[in-house]
Amino acid sequence: MTDDDTAPDPGTAVRVRVNGAVHELQVPGRLSLADALRERLHLTGTHLGCEHGVCGACTVLVDDRPVRSCITLAAACDGSDVVTVEGLAGPVADAVREAFAAEHGLQCGFCTSGMLMTAVDVVTRRPDATPDDIRHELGGNLCRCTGYVNIVRAITRAAADLGTITADAGTAVTIGGRA
Ligand code: FES
Ligand code: FES
Repeated sequence: MTDDDTAPDPGTAVRVRVNGAVHELQVPGRLSLADALRERLHLTGTHLGCEHGVCGACTVLVDDRPVRSCITLAAACDGSDVVTVEGLAGPVADAVREAFAAEHGLQCGFCTSGMLMTAVDVVTRRPDATPDDIRHELGGNLCRCTGYVNIVRAITRAAADLGTITADAGTAVTIGGRA
């Protein structure tokens, strides 16, 4: 070990778009995206469960892909577009939220923000997913309350509802409502 190993981490300058707003942050090299979102930007809708990449509670979208923000370094998100549960908008998000409410897809709600992020991704990528497909897609999101039945029903319902909406409107649907 050298003296330099004990010096304070000066941090890295990161420019990241979160829910449509650009933020410039100075982040320590080991700061997770989850902690940056919750502690720096006060976006506490992203929950922390295991903090080891296992439970999926911390799932957010980075450049339209679901990631576990507890094991994603904030410094690695320079130049990225991040969407948290607070920023979910548009037809897919609306359909997913309404379906979770209609199908009672939550109880305590701790896992729900991560479930919603994954659900939006699944419905967007796989609008024809079967309940078995959805169960497979949810393999990285743990819920200690629901037994998953209503969550799978909710995602199935959201995909069906969205199919009706897009057929009626004849419009393309994008994650987070972005074109
Ligand atoms: S808190 Fe990130 S996967 Fe559990
Ligand atoms: S609703 Fe309680 S952990 Fe999923």
